[in-house]
Amino acid sequence: MSERFYTTTPIYYVNAEPHLGHAYSTLAADILARHHRQRGDDVFFLTGTDEHGEPIENAAAKEGISPEELVDRNAAKFEALMPIIDATNDFFIRTSDPRHEAKVAEIMQRVYDNGWVRKGAYEGWYCPRCADFKTEREVAEGNTCPIHEIALDWVEEENWFFELSRFQERLEALYEEQPDFVVPDFRRNEAVAFIKGGLEDVSLSRPTLKWGLPLPWDPDQRMYVWFDALLNYVTALTFAREGEDLTERFWPADLHVMAKDILKFHAVIWPALCMAAGLQPPRRMVIHGYLLMGEKKMSKSLGNVLDPFEVIERFGADALRFYLFREVSFGQDGSISTAGFEARYETELANDYGNLASRVLAMVARYRDGVVPVECRVDAVLAEDFEGALDRLRDLIDRAELSQALEVIWTLVRRLNRYVEETAPWVLAKDEADPQRLDEVLYNLVEGLRVVTLMLVPFLPATADSLLGTLGEEGRGLAELGSRGGGQTVEKIQPLFPKIETPA
Ligand code: ME8
Ligand code: MG
Repeated sequence: MSERFYTTTPIYYVNAEPHLGHAYSTLAADILARHHRQRGDDVFFLTGTDEHGEPIENAAAKEGISPEELVDRNAAKFEALMPIIDATNDFFIRTSDPRHEAKVAEIMQRVYDNGWVRKGAYEGWYCPRCADFKTEREVAEGNTCPIHEIALDWVEEENWFFELSRFQERLEALYEEQPDFVVPDFRRNEAVAFIKGGLEDVSLSRPTLKWGLPLPWDPDQRMYVWFDALLNYVTALTFAREGEDLTERFWPADLHVMAKDILKFHAVIWPALCMAAGLQPPRRMVIHGYLLMGEKKMSKSLGNVLDPFEVIERFGADALRFYLFREVSFGQDGSISTAGFEARYETELANDYGNLASRVLAMVARYRDGVVPVECRVDAVLAEDFEGALDRLRDLIDRAELSQALEVIWTLVRRLNRYVEETAPWVLAKDEADPQRLDEVLYNLVEGLRVVTLMLVPFLPATADSLLGTLGEEGRGLAELGSRGGGQTVEKIQPLFPKIETPA
């Protein structure tokens, strides 16, 4: 049964250049989108850039250029990242797009008309890099930001407020009725604890901000960037397709993907804002951890950045995608390193998978003139280990457990390698009395390779696509072992993941 699947990434701040952390969230959403397309679902995958607010205003000032100039330059770099990492986003939204701005004004006016906004005075600590007002609990030693390790600003100003406090009960009810609203569970518990701890109203505007959208009912004040940003998930649907409004088809979103740094905005403020605007809240969100290089979170602010462009140039996007979701258990923080990358590239991609493919195809070429044997049955020992794997894969993807999903696939890759060793086709080839057994083994190997490669399409899109071409596979839908009969002609291939050349 096909369904619809609308997934999103955070829209990234354009105050600096894209780095591997941004690629990571985007790839997670891309893996989910590609898998759902394989199921025949109606998929929409959105990513983009967040272009207003103080972080941008400050970054432009520091460079001595206008905010417009800065956002145009850097948004182009984020947009260019997408094809490089092989992300299949259906649209790229920029919040400086006048169509977004007009829609935000319309929705925020509705929030105001519905009575969820009041005027008040704000006093407290503010981080210009987070563009966030800090509660007492969130202020680190010496009144610094625990994330950016910079001094917080003490702010006293006349603001408009969004009356988040009045959503306490409705948010608690939402979390009770939808236990998987936020996954993994420990992140859900954080969100629930935050809500139960008592909600305060949040600033909706800033009188000192220049680079932001004017409030429709008080144009002297500029909108706090998070309201403009969160609404991208809804506004994009209204103009992503010329002359077509996709809102009916895709809202509410099925899955927002992000890291834990922006949990509060998405898990608490966002559903309340939806309710205030008369929109359905999103269905679900998955919160992943940080990619760590050494001890600290890798970020634009702290430096320590592994450049995705460089990694891809050397190893290809597939290898990067694979490494990130294999090395770091999706949901947890995890360290990445060049050394770890090379190890997995060699042992898993080149040996486990690349060699399997090369060997299987070479044996079919050598022993059967490249024609996959027909009228063979699935070997019982393989059938046993493939049994239920597709269901497990679908189930894990449905829970956004990407690393566990990849592990299901890799268990099958390893099983096929053991099957080669157990059956030793090169010995069978010498036994002219029983050609049927060699037929059967080769058929099972090609079939196993086909099934795991289809499963790998979201993780290794370019490699899988090329190998499936060699295997004469036309569709890209998931398949059970034994669902294809053989008879196709295949060829030997160059190594899928060639040895890494170390410069002399
Ligand atoms: O927060 N590890 O934008 P942002 C994993 N504009 N993911 C990382 C990461 C890391 N080291 N570094 C960044 C904003 N990310 C707002 C969002 S949404 C309506 C507005 C990813 O540029 C991760 O998805 O700071 C994180 O949540 C996001 O980039 C923050 O991007
Ligand atoms: Mg950030």
